[in-house]
Amino acid sequence: MSLSVFDRRLILVVGKGGVGRSTVAAAIAGQCAARGRKTLLFETNANDRFGSYFDKPSVGTEVVQLAPNLSAVNTNPAAALEEYGLMILKFRSVYEMVFENRVTRAFLRAIPGLDDYAMLGKAWFHTTEEKRGKPIWDTVVFDMPASGHSMSMLRIPWVINETVPEGPLTRDARTIKELLTDPARTAAVLVTLAEEMPVNEAIELEEKLGGLGIKPQQIVCNQVYPQHFAPGAPVTKVLDTLAADPALPSPLRELTEHAKLSRDRRALNERYLEELRARAKTPVHELPMMFAPALDAAHVRTLGELL
Ligand SMILES: Nc1ncnc2c1ncn2[C@@H]1O[C@H](COP(=O)(O)OP(=O)(O)O)[C@@H](O)[C@H]1O
Ligand SMILES: [Mg+2]
Repeated sequence: MSLSVFDRRLILVVGKGGVGRSTVAAAIAGQCAARGRKTLLFETNANDRFGSYFDKPSVGTEVVQLAPNLSAVNTNPAAALEEYGLMILKFRSVYEMVFENRVTRAFLRAIPGLDDYAMLGKAWFHTTEEKRGKPIWDTVVFDMPASGHSMSMLRIPWVINETVPEGPLTRDARTIKELLTDPARTAAVLVTLAEEMPVNEAIELEEKLGGLGIKPQQIVCNQVYPQHFAPGAPVTKVLDTLAADPALPSPLRELTEHAKLSRDRRALNERYLEELRARAKTPVHELPMMFAPALDAAHVRTLGELL
């Protein structure tokens, strides 16, 4: 089964820290690009890995091309705010007068959520960018911050609509809300692992996103151990025999211990995959654990092809 999200304008990749959000975002973006869609991989405040995933230097605050049809940008609050400021105020001289002013800066820093709103707003802005009446990006893949932070970022347009008087700010917030909650244009992809805590967090996140009206389209369960020792297989019988021998010499003893670990890991993954599928309302898609000291472009392509 293939991930049915590639045709969306905005793909939000969310999940707990360290589960492989960035890797899955890169794999999704690579697939979108391979299907001929002009794709922007969007990340915030990142210690960039996308450059190395596409054999390119690390990505900064300027949009750079990583592969045919694929570009990336790694924004931060200051860069996003400056772009937003320039967009509303039109001229750099006016922007500098207003935004570089000491009092304004102190004032802006005191507005809770403004940093996140500027970055979310930039992601939205890229989905609307046009050149000669045609969208510049068919798909923006947003590698979002870790779970809790993502939720507070996504909630801001709702907060603005509830608290700020009608005006340009609320108009943009309403447009962003409409985009986020439109399943034809936006897909949320939830990344997790087949382990206890990540499964619990994924279920929680699915609920919270649903609460905002952002229905997750797919759960990607990453780093699933391969089945090396299927029950009843000859190799498993060998393992059982070796494991039962108390006088096993080195290095056979150590190798046997490693093999047992691999089997245990797979069993644990299977148990939590079952639990995840039972508890989640969203379809679950598995990605395998890749065995390498560091993932490179070939690994990311393989993961993309498995989506
Ligand atoms: N399927 C996988 N197999 C092996 N290693 C993986 C896989 N997915 C991610 N990783 C590795 O796990 C680490 C964390 O992944 P990353 O995508 O940076 O997570 P996150 O963005 O959620 O913090 C990285 O070193 C990455 O290369
Ligand atoms: Mg990341």
